[in-house]
Amino acid sequence: MKTWKIATGVSVVALVVAGGIVANVFPAQIAAIDQIDPALLAEDLVTQGENLAMLGDCAACHTQKGQGELSGGVALPTPFGTIYSTNITPDKDTGIGTWSFAAFDRAMRDGIDRRGAHLYPAFPYDHFAAITDADMRALYAYVMTRDAVAAPAVPNLLSFPFNFRPLLAGWKLLFHHKTPFAPDPAMDEEQNRGKYLAETIGHCTACHSPRNALGAVRQNAFMQGAEVEGWLAPPLGASSIAPVGWTLDDYADYLFDGWSETHSIAAGPMTNVVDHLYAADEDDVFAIAAWLAKITPAQDEGERAARITEIDALNLSEAFDFSLAGMDVPQQVREGAQVFKTSCVKCHKERIADTLPVSLGLTYAVNAPAPTNLFHVVLGGIEPPQGSSARRMQPITLSAEDLGRVAAFVRWQFTDLPDWPDLQEAAEQALSDRTAH
Ligand code: HEC
Ligand code: HEC
Ligand code: HEC
Repeated sequence: MKTWKIATGVSVVALVVAGGIVANVFPAQIAAIDQIDPALLAEDLVTQGENLAMLGDCAACHTQKGQGELSGGVALPTPFGTIYSTNITPDKDTGIGTWSFAAFDRAMRDGIDRRGAHLYPAFPYDHFAAITDADMRALYAYVMTRDAVAAPAVPNLLSFPFNFRPLLAGWKLLFHHKTPFAPDPAMDEEQNRGKYLAETIGHCTACHSPRNALGAVRQNAFMQGAEVEGWLAPPLGASSIAPVGWTLDDYADYLFDGWSETHSIAAGPMTNVVDHLYAADEDDVFAIAAWLAKITPAQDEGERAARITEIDALNLSEAFDFSLAGMDVPQQVREGAQVFKTSCVKCHKERIADTLPVSLGLTYAVNAPAPTNLFHVVLGGIEPPQGSSARRMQPITLSAEDLGRVAAFVRWQFTDLPDWPDLQEAAEQALSDRTAH
């Protein structure tokens, strides 16, 4: 934490200086419009835009449960405070109803609102900047044909200096390079389509890449996994840590249905992503799977089959001796076996039916460097994606001791990886984070 603070302090000074020398600290306002040019709202454009809005998951950040579609007000926690998304419905007073295409385009690419204020990169314009012009027009058509909802902006909870928007000019100078999308000559057309969708509108790389102290994606650690919204987003492609290598079919299953037989379910912030992919154009979702498969080193088929058999065999039957009699294991693991027996084994057992969950040894939650996602699914349950709606897990109430114990057991039983350290403290933290919400 300390180094983070120092780094931030130094960088803020750098930002002020940088901000000061940029000509574009106070961009000009773009005139309000009364009427949108109907040619920009043609029906086929709206249909194309709807598909892009699904791929881009705009609703995940702009639609608050129980409120009007795209009317904003969703709280996005960042290391700098809480930022609230804005109303992007065509309401003239509280939404973007007076925005011309030029104003929309500038916001999506440069992160500047119609009046000239800089926008926070919690809005992934660093990814949207490389969207093609045709796609940008389609998105505009879609957004501007939604129902207008009156919903005033919710003020952000940011402290100085982060609440001072002109500083973002410095941030952009350092990190927002607006590199146009470049197809990879080593990829075929479909894979490049997937790459385009994933890196721009789909902003997959926004969650799956670590960020520096100022919240910018670290290009040298591209897709190496990151913490988002209190969850761990796994490393993807060449950096994947999945014990059974991802194949094209696995990716397609996971992205369409939110579940893969060799990797389990899309939980947490990923649920919303796959639910919107479910509503997107099939060819586009398949293209993203094709791109991912292309950047993932293939595992030898024999080795893959052996891994699957081995990990499946780790599932326990209800008749298993959970006292772990005669086994040399840490006390926490032994006690965790009892928690597993009481709270987990009725579902997490030998797969006598396809409807049962896959072996926990296949899941990222159990193979991850920290028990973060495991704690989330145990305490919060799993609200399954639309494509796998029967795979529900109810929230389970456990004490911090039992939560730490069951995590120790699961890690020991289902992986060969080192123990998670300080499980008791981590479990207490996870429980108190939940009650704070
Ligand atoms: C990861 C969250 C996230 C996603 C995904 C997202 N946005 Fe946003 N968006 C935000 C936030 C937060 C803001 C407000 C930023 C600020 O106030 O500085 C914003 C602002 C905007 C603005 C500027 C509006 C204004 O009043 O200033 C537009 C336009 C916009 N988003 C459109 C979209 C579209 C279209 C999509 C889908 C393609 C999308 N956003 C996806 C978080 C998101
Ligand atoms: C809002 C953040 C967010 C976005 C955007 C996002 N992901 Fe994820 N993703 C996650 C999280 C968190 C997980 C872990 C889910 C779990 O543990 O069940 C995940 C899991 C995955 C996995 C499983 C990897 C593994 O090894 O288990 C794949 C594959 C994946 N995401 C692909 C994508 C693709 C493709 C996109 C873009 C279309 C995308 N993600 C966009 C947060 C995100
Ligand atoms: C009512 C049945 C049920 C119970 C009880 C249950 N689970 Fe689950 N669990 C599921 C289902 C269904 C899934 C979805 C995965 C699948 O179907 O492959 C799941 C998935 C998981 C995952 C993977 C999450 C991911 O993001 O990939 C973990 C970890 C997990 N459970 C841990 C536990 C632990 C630990 C317990 C006991 C404290 C427990 N579960 C109890 C049904 C259950």
